[in-house]
Amino acid sequence: METMKTIAMRQSCREYTGEQLTESELKTVLEAANASPVGMGKFEDMMLTVVQKKDLLEKLDEAGAKFYGNPDMHPLYGAPTVIIASAKDTGIDRRMVGFCNAACMIENMALAATDLGLGSVYLMGSIMALGGDSDLKQDMKIPADFIPASAIALGATTQPLKERDLTVSKVSVEYLK
Ligand SMILES: Cc1cc2nc3c(=O)[nH]c(=O)nc-3n(C[C@H](O)[C@H](O)[C@H](O)COP(=O)(O)O)c2cc1C
Repeated sequence: METMKTIAMRQSCREYTGEQLTESELKTVLEAANASPVGMGKFEDMMLTVVQKKDLLEKLDEAGAKFYGNPDMHPLYGAPTVIIASAKDTGIDRRMVGFCNAACMIENMALAATDLGLGSVYLMGSIMALGGDSDLKQDMKIPADFIPASAIALGATTQPLKERDLTVSKVSVEYLK
């Protein structure tokens, strides 16, 4: 798929069939994350956690629902795979770099997933809940000195990926020519 077409096709999917990714699809998505830009090339300051265990997905879903104050919601949308990008806590001055690294990784994975015809959505709320829950963080094998920064839900979707019309009018732009 052409790059701009993949960009136009990517959209947040909030409906999943429950069908799991194949190992080959998962590898492609992880390759995309590993190809993303990372501040000063310090990949050792980042880690990814692939969550496919049903009980852990349920715990994260519940933690997110609690975070949003709505026990009836399912902030993971029933996706069969969630990949968490965590950043080493490098101190207040550099913490932003870790969050930017995570965002780059998530977007690269979202584009790779789109290219594979999979649904994806950026997750933040449930990850903020995870950051404040040291027991769940431990269950997820995320070291204490790493901050869960962002995540992506992935899976086969019933939501058809529709190519959007590309525009320059959504974000304001100041031209300094
Ligand atoms: C930093 C960030 C955090 C987000 N957090 C969530 C989230 O927790 N749950 C969710 O369903 N969507 C989340 N989104 C998805 C946005 O709501 C979505 O990208 C936006 O509405 C545009 O829609 P589109 O992705 O279909 O183009 C997040 C997106 C970003 C970039």
